[in-house]
Amino acid sequence: MSAAAPPIRPMRIEDALGVHELCTRVLFSPQPGIDEGLGRARSLARIEHLVTTDPGGSWVAEDEGRIAGVAIALVREGIWGFSLYAVDEAVQGRGLGRRLLDACLAYGADAGATGWLILSSEHPAAMRRYARAGFALAPCVAAMGIPDLRRAPDAVARVEDAGTAGIPLADRIGRAVRGAGHGRDLPTALAGGARLLVLEDRGFALMRGGNAMLLAATDEEAASTVLWAGLAGAPAGSTALIDFMTGAQQWAITVCLDAGLPLSPDGPVFAKGRLGPLAPYLPSGAYL
Ligand SMILES: CC(C)(COP(=O)(O)OP(=O)(O)OC[C@H]1O[C@@H](n2cnc3c(N)ncnc32)[C@H](O)[C@@H]1OP(=O)(O)O)[C@@H](O)C(=O)NCCC(=O)NCCS
Repeated sequence: MSAAAPPIRPMRIEDALGVHELCTRVLFSPQPGIDEGLGRARSLARIEHLVTTDPGGSWVAEDEGRIAGVAIALVREGIWGFSLYAVDEAVQGRGLGRRLLDACLAYGADAGATGWLILSSEHPAAMRRYARAGFALAPCVAAMGIPDLRRAPDAVARVEDAGTAGIPLADRIGRAVRGAGHGRDLPTALAGGARLLVLEDRGFALMRGGNAMLLAATDEEAASTVLWAGLAGAPAGSTALIDFMTGAQQWAITVCLDAGLPLSPDGPVFAKGRLGPLAPYLPSGAYL
């Protein structure tokens, strides 16, 4: 019989590096063209930001002095999002993942969350945990490659790189689309080198190179335009990555196909409770 899994405890800011190293071992895939030091700095900034804003939603387990499990959930305006979830291979399958997820769900319930959102990996244990916790599964595709920009609409010229000045607008649009704004989290993403593109008062895209990290809009035309602008504005030769496209994001699938990007299966989105329409919307893995 396998030994009992280590106990869980609230995460502390000093755990951030151990959490990053665990996620590097079992969850994160290497990002093409991203220097390891830069990737680590961004990951630590994300982890430290969330343990600061959501200490009650940040949990770890230690095994022989090193971080062996983590789960981090955030709550924004009544919407709970699951940002990070990993257990070391040596202790997987012993119920540790379940206890970490339960602690994060309890945090959401205590914080009065009414809507719940998870972007899942394709790991069978992760999908099982989420479905068993009562979440509904929406299948997703992702697109990755060097985009062909010849079909970008002329309207991309109207998209502005707004920087931090665009945060209030993005916050309003996110509130209408997700059910909660992203204003509290966007400064961390921008400090890490992401660009915040806006189209009038209709849509925004948070881009890192060719990666659409987060996008929401009031209408599909605006959503397509800011996505095209994001692809067109990335440094030449950047690999585009657009992930977690549910069936409700046909507009994004059309952009990807028009840009010549191949589609592949992605982990599903899991949701329950009261959320916004979640379209047009490309969620953020870190901040949902
Ligand atoms: C997802 C993860 C955190 C779960 O942690 P864990 O400690 O293994 O979870 P638990 O032991 O509590 O539960 C795993 C469940 O999946 C089942 N399971 C494990 N491996 C499985 C597999 N290959 N196929 C099907 N089911 C599997 C277990 O039987 C268990 O179900 P049960 O409790 O109903 O019997 C861990 O597997 C992990 O880190 N995976 C890699 C990183 C990842 O994908 N993270 C999710 C990001 S969204």
